[in-house]
Amino acid sequence: MEKIRINASVDYDVLIDSGLLKEAGELIFSALLPASGVSATDPLAARRQAENTTAVIVSDDNVFPLYGEALKNSLAGSGYKTIEFVFPHGEKSKSLNTYGELLEFMCDSHIRRSDMIVALGGGVVGDLAGFAAATYQRGITFIQIPTTLLAAVDSSVGGKTAVDLTNGKNQVGAFYQPRLVICDTDTLSTLPPEEYSCGCGEIIKYAVLESEEFFDELLQKPVCTQYEHVISTCVKMKKAYVENDEFDTGLRMKLNLGHTFGHAVEACSGYSILHGQAVAMGMAAVTKAASEMGLCSKETLVRLLEILDVYKLPSEIPYGLDEMFEVTLVDKKNSGSVTNLIVPTAIGNCRIMKIQTEKLKGWLEEGGVR
Ligand SMILES: NC(=O)c1ccc[n+]([C@@H]2O[C@H](COP(=O)([O-])OP(=O)(O)OC[C@H]3O[C@@H](n4cnc5c(N)ncnc54)[C@H](O)[C@@H]3O)[C@@H](O)[C@H]2O)c1
Ligand SMILES: [Zn+2]
Repeated sequence: MEKIRINASVDYDVLIDSGLLKEAGELIFSALLPASGVSATDPLAARRQAENTTAVIVSDDNVFPLYGEALKNSLAGSGYKTIEFVFPHGEKSKSLNTYGELLEFMCDSHIRRSDMIVALGGGVVGDLAGFAAATYQRGITFIQIPTTLLAAVDSSVGGKTAVDLTNGKNQVGAFYQPRLVICDTDTLSTLPPEEYSCGCGEIIKYAVLESEEFFDELLQKPVCTQYEHVISTCVKMKKAYVENDEFDTGLRMKLNLGHTFGHAVEACSGYSILHGQAVAMGMAAVTKAASEMGLCSKETLVRLLEILDVYKLPSEIPYGLDEMFEVTLVDKKNSGSVTNLIVPTAIGNCRIMKIQTEKLKGWLEEGGVR
């Protein structure tokens, strides 16, 4: 088992291995013991405390039928009571509406501050459940069990929680760290192929940002044959950003590589293009322009396009720039603002370039992106 300690405003472990779901109850029990106020040498008192704790399992209607029962059994085996809140899958559910329903459900179920929320699912479940955990009774214990590759390498670690507003993603949220992240790589076996590709998009992002060696590994061996290694490599990279800049005011913004234009593509598609696919297009666009302007080599672009192709990720933005920018980046509220654009200088290295938001479109055009 890989165990990565994150030292943020809350210190916690990220555990990565196959078969962890059936051990979730005991793993949570052990992780919560030090802060429980119960002495580790008094196991009966600790068990009694667990028996007094309800775990609210938050999940979606794809994931819960697959893994909910195993999680419930494991939690019950460790003494926890469980209740579940299962909502329709998809980004549309990451809303104030679902958030409100979850809070009302917890209140009706007499959930107290000493209880906990366990998120079982992808980034949508984790972001929504985390925001509920951050705000219900001013904050209750939060556990992440990511079941998508994207959630495993990215959203379950680092404490960003949020829901969407009608006209903006992640517009309401909080920084709120989980107390434990349990990544059971077996759960990834049921991921639809396009969700697997999306996770690979974020993984390629880490490689382009941080490590040519990791990039080569991804080319030599498919991600799905080395989940534990790939996820732990990404989590270690994310750990460094989170520990240096937990509240995202500086270096952590590098994790936005591919996202500036990716978000615009997502919005333009009405969210029919998946996030990881849009990030792939965004990385390709920024790298194409960078190579055209001599900020990185042509080979950097060629290699990026090659790996995106290997992982069945798109590289061409299917919209004209006018169309894309009309929807998002150069609207009135952005005029005068500055965007921190993350630009690859080589595979394994990127820089932050400050560009006036209204000049982003011109920057891409100058770089030959149409
Ligand atoms: N908090 C952060 O730091 C952060 C970082 C990146 C992305 N995000 C957010 O994460 C969200 C995207 O996350 P996602 O890609 O995991 O999407 P998701 O949670 O919608 O999951 C994708 C799909 O896969 C299904 N699914 C999940 N696990 C499965 C499994 N094991 N087997 C079969 N199907 C499964 C889900 O039901 C869903 O239909 C976005 O809302 C994004 O804003 C947050
Ligand atoms: Zn992303």
